[in-house]
Amino acid sequence: MDEVRQNTLRIQDEGKVDSLDWFEALYSSANGEEYWIPWSNGTPHRFLVDWLIENNTIGRALVVGSGLGEDAAYLSQQGWEVTAFDISPSAVRWAEEKYITENIDWQVADLLSLPEHWRGLFDLVLEVHILQAIPEPIRILAATNLAPLVAPLGHLVCIGRLNENEEVFQGPPWPLSLNFINSIGSDLKKIDFIKANFPLDDTEVIRYRSVWEREK
Ligand SMILES: C[S@@+](CC[C@H](N)C(=O)[O-])C[C@H]1O[C@@H](n2cnc3c(N)ncnc32)[C@H](O)[C@@H]1O
Repeated sequence: MDEVRQNTLRIQDEGKVDSLDWFEALYSSANGEEYWIPWSNGTPHRFLVDWLIENNTIGRALVVGSGLGEDAAYLSQQGWEVTAFDISPSAVRWAEEKYITENIDWQVADLLSLPEHWRGLFDLVLEVHILQAIPEPIRILAATNLAPLVAPLGHLVCIGRLNENEEVFQGPPWPLSLNFINSIGSDLKKIDFIKANFPLDDTEVIRYRSVWEREK
């Protein structure tokens, strides 16, 4: 097992993976070295890049659980007006310093308890690898808070790992079943769903992108 995985497992164990505290513990203990953040490779998610190419549009975007900010920065560079939030103050500080030249509204916030004035405000709500990283009881509540953020004619884009065969995983991450994914946008119109095995992934890792639109 490599040292990054070993370190992440130790912090998850100490910070109790049942709570969300281990995220802050991991970011703050990394001392600004991206090497220690296992999900961060310095680039925006390929499924986001593809979606932006397919949908030549801009507007107001909300990046949920923005981590070290790669997706938020990419959206900003493409002309979006971006708000990005994470539960970890260290991650938010780090991303803000890293992308100091981008005009992004960085916020420390918890998906479980979001500002009321964000409801219906965003043309794009982007969730990458958040729901699969939080334990099921919290995940079920958190998932219901995404769709209400989407403005009329806006989109919710969720990206993560798919649990195609309803397997039991010792997460995090906990790949998501199709039923669960469908429930995330149940009061929106589902307009797209793709899945793929990426060349650098193990063959059993299937990634998905699901897109919903709020009708008028
Ligand atoms: C697996 S990381 C993914 C980060 C980033 N989206 C990416 O793809 O690189 C999960 C992120 O979600 C954040 N997070 C977890 N629970 C959260 C919550 N309830 N509200 C906001 N952010 C949360 C963590 O701090 C962490 O940055």
